[in-house]
Amino acid sequence: MINFKIAIGCDHGGYDLKEEIVVELKSWGYEISDMGCYNKDSFDYPDSGHKVSRAVASGDVDRGILICTTGIGMSMVANRYSEVRAALCRNCDMTYLTRIHNNANMIVFGARYTTILDARAMLKVFLESQFSEVDRHIRRVEKIEKCLEI
Ligand code: RB5
Repeated sequence: MINFKIAIGCDHGGYDLKEEIVVELKSWGYEISDMGCYNKDSFDYPDSGHKVSRAVASGDVDRGILICTTGIGMSMVANRYSEVRAALCRNCDMTYLTRIHNNANMIVFGARYTTILDARAMLKVFLESQFSEVDRHIRRVEKIEKCLEI
């Protein structure tokens, strides 16, 4: 296990899954910062989405996890930060490839489509797979930002 610091956030739609993930990751030994929300009352996903994204972008934490109903709103928020590469994942293959190819530092779940069993399996892959460091993948990840300037 790499001793990552992890930030996690959700809205009301992701609250139950977030609670289960926090317990799971703590039991694996990770230091996890829970940036809300903290109950199932209606909650605006950008509020916790920006908090977790800022924590990843600033380097305060190594990895981020965001959860809303679909995962889409949280992905939109997170990928506004140039230092954040957020991947909405539905299975372990997507999770593995986004680590190897995209060097994703944030995983996003849609709680409507993701069970705790699925999330647990994807998180193992997300936290334990290394970016490939192959030239073409380094170049492509760099181009995510660079092409904005062209
Ligand atoms: C909340 O109802 C829902 O819009 C939110 O959880 C998320 O899926 C947005 O993208």
